[in-house]
Amino acid sequence: MRFKMTDQTYRLELKNIVKSFPGVMAVRDVTLAAYFGEILALVGENGAGKSTLMNILSGALIADSGMILLDGNEVRITSPRRAQELGIAMIHQELALIPQMSVAQNIFLGREPLQVSGILVDTKKMQADAQVIINQLGLDFAVSAIISDLSIAQRQMVEIAKAISIKSRVIILDEPTSALSERESVKLFEMMHTLREQKVTLIYISHRMEEIFSFSDRIAVMRDGQLVGVEPTGNLSINSVVQMMVGRELKEFFPKTETEIGEIVLEAYGLRSGSRLKNASLFLRRGEIVGLAGLVGSGRTEIARVLFGADPLEAGEIIVAGQKVKIQSPEEAIRLGIGLVTEDRKAQGLFLRQSVRSNASITLFTKFSRFGFLQVKKIDRWIRSAINQLNIRTPNLEQHVGNLSGGNQQKVVIARWLALNPQILILDEPTRGIDVSAKAEIHNLMGELASKGMAILMISSELPEILGISDRILVMREGRLMAEFSRLDATQDKIMQAATGQLENAGINLNE
Ligand SMILES: Nc1ncnc2c1ncn2[C@@H]1O[C@H](COP(=O)(O)OP(=O)(O)OP(=O)(O)O)[C@@H](O)[C@H]1O
Ligand SMILES: [Mg+2]
Repeated sequence: MRFKMTDQTYRLELKNIVKSFPGVMAVRDVTLAAYFGEILALVGENGAGKSTLMNILSGALIADSGMILLDGNEVRITSPRRAQELGIAMIHQELALIPQMSVAQNIFLGREPLQVSGILVDTKKMQADAQVIINQLGLDFAVSAIISDLSIAQRQMVEIAKAISIKSRVIILDEPTSALSERESVKLFEMMHTLREQKVTLIYISHRMEEIFSFSDRIAVMRDGQLVGVEPTGNLSINSVVQMMVGRELKEFFPKTETEIGEIVLEAYGLRSGSRLKNASLFLRRGEIVGLAGLVGSGRTEIARVLFGADPLEAGEIIVAGQKVKIQSPEEAIRLGIGLVTEDRKAQGLFLRQSVRSNASITLFTKFSRFGFLQVKKIDRWIRSAINQLNIRTPNLEQHVGNLSGGNQQKVVIARWLALNPQILILDEPTRGIDVSAKAEIHNLMGELASKGMAILMISSELPEILGISDRILVMREGRLMAEFSRLDATQDKIMQAATGQLENAGINLNE
């Protein structure tokens, strides 16, 4: 062990922490300590209580009872500001930046350097300081860029920059890589290692097992609000961690249903839209799951958006079931049998202040209101079966979606589309933030839908997922389709090479 065994071995101690919400015991008597300069991974199923525990540490929530010690002294963390003063920073699962402000303004929010007068913000210094951090992280956007113009991945990097700028003793990262591609994640890990060298304590929440095993020092596992164990990473295996998380063994991580692949249901030629999507042609067949890989910003989401009528098509042609179509709005896409699960559940997907019932059933209104009134019973029955099928953890249907854990929110988005049973379903990072067992459930479900004849296009930044469940894999780079691999031919290396430009036009026969 590289830490010193003095009586001040722990940087941080959580003792007997309890936190409940109406109807939910989120954290039950958790005692957990973290060392100086370690990366402690915190894992557990969706709704296990990870974010709640960390929100208590970062002052966003107050515990019902329990005690927190920092460097051996008891501290009362009554607000996020107090946590910041104590040197505790948290990068939240749901990003918390101010969209109208610049990168630099967000990084230094509430701590802006002042001019000599002591009144005005020293914008020059603020931008220069921000630039140093941006360079450290190897980011390629301007410190003056407005947050709302950045992609989700870029916003996540801004949050990380912010935490780093605070000179924290403890940095909590709640699923920081869920929106990042492999390459960006690597940059983040390098940064985390540097911080560890500087004796910063990093607590890292993630559902990506490969990641956790590749660089954490210890792994703490939560289940149903309790801490079920904490061990040095070297003593554990992915299987043993999953077993601790779910209380049983998980047979397959990426279950693949073999389906019969049918006729072509969608063809797209020379798609172009905005600056990100330059030229992409593809087809989808019934019963087929097509994985769409590529770096963040390569134009994957833009393909999804033009096929769904959410962005205008500037050039190209779309053919659905043999008919040339113009998809000018999501309503038209839905009418043509196309569904889209978007990547950003907060901005585009869910109404956080509304109930699980109304969020899940929003697409059902057209379906079940045929006789001029809503068939409430039918809708409830349908929602209950979707909740069971997807194992959505909610005390009841009235719960506000905003109060569900991140992964469970994502499942509500998926539930919504199941209701419409589209013939083509596009999923943009469908298992982002979803725990391993729920992920397997969603993959099973996708397999089931495919076997009923649905064509599925799945965008994902997680290569094991792409490789695990796709029948065919497309790779994009800089707005163009760069490669196509069959399930048998594809490897992680080949996909990365195509995504980064080391391999061109492999297997592509549709372009031009
Ligand atoms: N503000 C709240 N009001 C009511 N219930 C809440 C609130 N915040 C969290 N919960 C509930 O507490 C439990 C723990 O949630 P938490 O967000 O801590 O889970 P998590 O482990 O972070 O899950 P995930 O991996 O999905 O992010 C869940 O059942 C959740 O629905
Ligand atoms: Mg969480």
